[in-house]
Amino acid sequence: MTDKKGTYYITTPIYYPSSNLHIGHTYCTVMADAMARFKRLQGYDVMFLTGTDEHGQKIQTLANEKGVTPQQYVDEVVAGIKDLWKTMEISYDDFIRTTEERHVKRVQDLFMKMYKKGDIYKGQYEGWYCTPCESFWTEAQLEDGKCPDCGRPVTKAKEEAYFFKMSRYADDLLKIFRENPSFLEPETRRNEMIAFVEQGLEDLCISRSTFDWGIPVPIDEKHVIYVWLDALSNYITALGWPDDPEKYNRYWPADCHLVGKEIVRFHSLIWPAMLMSADLPLPKQVRGHGWLLLGGEKVSKSKAAKGQDVIDPVVLIERYGIDALKYFLLREYTFGQDGMFTNEVMLKRLNYDLANDLGNLVSRTVSMIEKYNGGFVPDLTEEGKCVPGEDGINYDEQLKEIAIGAAAKVEKQMDEFKFNMALEEIWVLVRRANKYIDETMPWALAKDEAQKPRLDNVLHNLAEAIRIISILIHPYMHTTSDAIRKQMGLWYADVAWDDALVFEMMSGEQVKKGKAIFPRLDIEKELEELYALGAKAAAEKGDINIPLELKDEIEYDDFDKLDLRVGTILKAEKHPKADKLLVFQVKMGTEKRQIISGVSEFYKPEECVGKKVVVVANLKPRKLRGLESKGMILYADNEVDGKTRYEFVTTVAADGNSVE
Ligand code: MSP
Repeated sequence: MTDKKGTYYITTPIYYPSSNLHIGHTYCTVMADAMARFKRLQGYDVMFLTGTDEHGQKIQTLANEKGVTPQQYVDEVVAGIKDLWKTMEISYDDFIRTTEERHVKRVQDLFMKMYKKGDIYKGQYEGWYCTPCESFWTEAQLEDGKCPDCGRPVTKAKEEAYFFKMSRYADDLLKIFRENPSFLEPETRRNEMIAFVEQGLEDLCISRSTFDWGIPVPIDEKHVIYVWLDALSNYITALGWPDDPEKYNRYWPADCHLVGKEIVRFHSLIWPAMLMSADLPLPKQVRGHGWLLLGGEKVSKSKAAKGQDVIDPVVLIERYGIDALKYFLLREYTFGQDGMFTNEVMLKRLNYDLANDLGNLVSRTVSMIEKYNGGFVPDLTEEGKCVPGEDGINYDEQLKEIAIGAAAKVEKQMDEFKFNMALEEIWVLVRRANKYIDETMPWALAKDEAQKPRLDNVLHNLAEAIRIISILIHPYMHTTSDAIRKQMGLWYADVAWDDALVFEMMSGEQVKKGKAIFPRLDIEKELEELYALGAKAAAEKGDINIPLELKDEIEYDDFDKLDLRVGTILKAEKHPKADKLLVFQVKMGTEKRQIISGVSEFYKPEECVGKKVVVVANLKPRKLRGLESKGMILYADNEVDGKTRYEFVTTVAADGNSVE
């Protein structure tokens, strides 16, 4: 085991619990999770924080629209977010909610510290506000009269407010960017921020008084603290600042705030200025990642269902597994850049890299060890060593060199948050090992008893390569890593990073074939099914319109033949001779009659009594299993999960209340 290397504190943005999260949020959290797991494996004392940003105008409006309190609203959405992270086995160490008492009190402490410094004053705010982004803009900053960050309409805000003397920190911020460039990565974002500050920083409005869903300003209860001040503080309130110095001192300053590019400004300008005002150390780094795009636009909650590509992480996980989704997100996109998301790109990636490359390597190796050596990993022998052939290549040495060199290469890529390149380094080894099988042709060696020592060495080397791969992939796909280790008979050993630096560790492990690690997907079929799911989600949200599949059209005259009447069900019982049928006594005006329907699957007799229903009164009577049915009660198909569900067509009185 590596010696403890010190602490490592990484954070994700705390997400707005305005509705369920989508693949974009998942992307950021998966990266943070992989980094946290990677650092833990390397021996760091890791603190991985995530959470939810629950105050603000947007949440209050949504709750009002739904007719619930903001607290009830966020409690429900946050439960779903926590479930998602649980399903995805996200290894966070703490989950902070900004409505928690531990946070609220500490934000007020921070506010007071800034106030006492003389950095907060009362004034009059007049400008624009973007509610989805919860950001203030001056007239000059707007683009075409819209929010320059998200392009959505802004509203005019004019209110008494507290201001933070942000302008005071402009020079300090520029100094940080220039003297410590790695404070903000990637470089493009840094240049944007430098340009932003150079245009001149205005003081920041940090309180609102036109709604009350927020943390009260400690010196003026008519105001709530601006949601971004509240939210950014989470990174230290979760560590117990200022009343739990032990934890705070252990992890602060954070090693990395991982955020989407649209909120880099808040993290690299406002947050450091707040900290400077409170005389607290700055985080070591802010890293802005790019966006996942759907049809050229940012995947966002409001656009979530517009395309027909499925972007709901829960659906994708159910079909392909957690590790497949994580691998795809980490491997496909280049950190800092935007990337297109389509189901097709994802499925191809899963088939090529996971089913073909990794899955095949493991299943071929395990099968060969079972077939040629009774299921045990052979030891290396002098006799079985590779004798380079005409091409002069020593396959064994080459495989070994790549295998034991991979860990350092992965570390180098991870230092720069290049998850895709880190995985590519591992796949260089995966592909090399597959090629090694083709080069050494164990099936040919097995035909000649004299070649047994050589065959043993080949099998041993393959097992070693897979053992190393199982360590290297652990931070990104721990379930798959565990499954591989089980098949390779390595269940007895903990995953240790340093074990990836050595070859020749295995001796006599008993391998055991398990089910395919990643089954091959029929891409055409999957795409068709995903398209149907995506379209259904979009149609349910009302973003697209899919015509129903119906029987042939009828003429008005056909319809006009029906005599529809309202009836009341007086009595309902099971048909004595047919399980599916219910026998009703129905009263319509002056007449009482018997009507039979095949709905026992949907209604119990006692549920039906008293219901006002619509009856086709002039349908020719007929006998059903010996009992007469005169007319027909109307039902309509209210399909659930693609299955028919008949429901009474009940009547509603003119005042809008149900007659029942
Ligand atoms: N509550 C604020 C953050 C406060 S942090 C102190 C917020 N929340 S959010 O719910 O809108 O989440 C924004 C973050 O979600 C982005 O910064 C990014 O990490 C992630 N993403 C949301 N949509 C995304 C994409 N389409 N693509 C990639 N990441 C995306 O802002």
